[in-house]
Amino acid sequence: MDKICISGGRPLLGTVNIGGMKNAALPIIFATVLVNDVCVLENLPEVRDIATALEIIKRMGAEVERLSRGNYRIDTRGIRCGSAPLDLAREMRGSYYILGAELGRFGRSATGFPGGCNFGVRPIDQHIKGFEALGAKVICSDDAVSCYAERRLSGAPVYMDVASVGATVNIMLAAATAEGMTVIDNAAREPHIVDLANFLNSCGANISGAGTEVIKIRGVDELHGVTYAIIPDMIEAGTYMIAAAATKSTLTIKNVIPRHLEATTRKLLEVGVDVDEGDDFVTVSYVGALRKARVKTDFYPGFPTDMNPQFCVLLCLAEGQSTLTESVMDHRFKYTDELTRMGAKITVSGRDALIEGVSELHGANVRAVDLRAGAAMVIAGLSAPGTTVIDDVYHIERGYEDMVGKLRGVGADIRYLSDLMPTPKA
Ligand code: EPU
Repeated sequence: MDKICISGGRPLLGTVNIGGMKNAALPIIFATVLVNDVCVLENLPEVRDIATALEIIKRMGAEVERLSRGNYRIDTRGIRCGSAPLDLAREMRGSYYILGAELGRFGRSATGFPGGCNFGVRPIDQHIKGFEALGAKVICSDDAVSCYAERRLSGAPVYMDVASVGATVNIMLAAATAEGMTVIDNAAREPHIVDLANFLNSCGANISGAGTEVIKIRGVDELHGVTYAIIPDMIEAGTYMIAAAATKSTLTIKNVIPRHLEATTRKLLEVGVDVDEGDDFVTVSYVGALRKARVKTDFYPGFPTDMNPQFCVLLCLAEGQSTLTESVMDHRFKYTDELTRMGAKITVSGRDALIEGVSELHGANVRAVDLRAGAAMVIAGLSAPGTTVIDDVYHIERGYEDMVGKLRGVGADIRYLSDLMPTPKA
């Protein structure tokens, strides 16, 4: 298993290009199963979770052809219902979108219980509630979920008790070809929900209100293939914005939608970092000592939970006592033990972290305990004088495209440990 090695404490300078958004690409890849035609998806990030999603639909009978970097032709006409490979499905969270897609197309589905980052229990009760409202029966075992409908799904009102991204996606997929109108109340408002609605609408669906808390889906009889480009990844962008601030640098983050970054931008301005917005870029500059802040994660447009670990690193380097409250996921602070090894002073109590700023962190051997925590270790390592070695970096590769290459491109001393090993003689 490879590790990432960073010689930190040096400033970065230049431009980082942002790729397509993993959490928008996943629902859209599984939505192609529902579309039952040929789609060309552009700007797919070339990361492990996307490769796994493409492999899953391939094993289900789709033809997947890589046209060029990030651009794929996907023909789902040959999909065999119920053929999702359970082992692969269990590797990632987004695989549960098979349920909504297959239910919408075939009226039944089965898949492995979804995996993904371990933030404690991640229930799927809201997905089940939605499927049942549309007329499906759902059966869960310890490691698999199956659902079926005796007749065509029928549109219905669904009130979500929590504005879950995954459940909103799954209900949209199941309802797109149901009979009549589905209204999702208290829906997730994340940009990836809007991207899925835009994709489905360009395939012939009739969805309105995506991006607000009420989404209306009038079912259509069938969908057709399209060419569609995925939106830029706001979490990848936010990660490099924080890397700029933590390393006392200036970075331009390009190919972004600045509106999606507003929560992160606001908090960066609050701690004393300059952010200059253009049409499709932001330039982030460190201009002096970082100030303490109170940060609370929330559903979009609140501060994203997927930026919690990265922003924590910045608060570790800010003067005074900051607080970071996690209000979306149950257990998101496992990574703080790793930051403590680097000299951070963090006290966690339930969903709250109290952070005592230090003047600098120091290099250490740490682990990526999950995807965003891994990105936080990279930021901490870049900021800290000395050598940081990060283990379990496969987590990072699940969601960041060529993070090592992109950071080397702006002057970071970062590499895979395997690249430092002498090549064995033939
Ligand atoms: N929840 C329920 N019941 C449900 C579904 C969710 O109680 O049926 C709760 C969860 O336990 C959690 C909260 O609702 O406390 C939010 O969960 P949500 O369903 O919104 O999250 P998700 O769909 O499982 C996606 C992203 C995560 C991201 C969250 C929140 C994908 C594949 N995953 O997960 O992304 O943290 O939304 O924005 O889209 C990541 O990319 O690093 C990542 C973890």
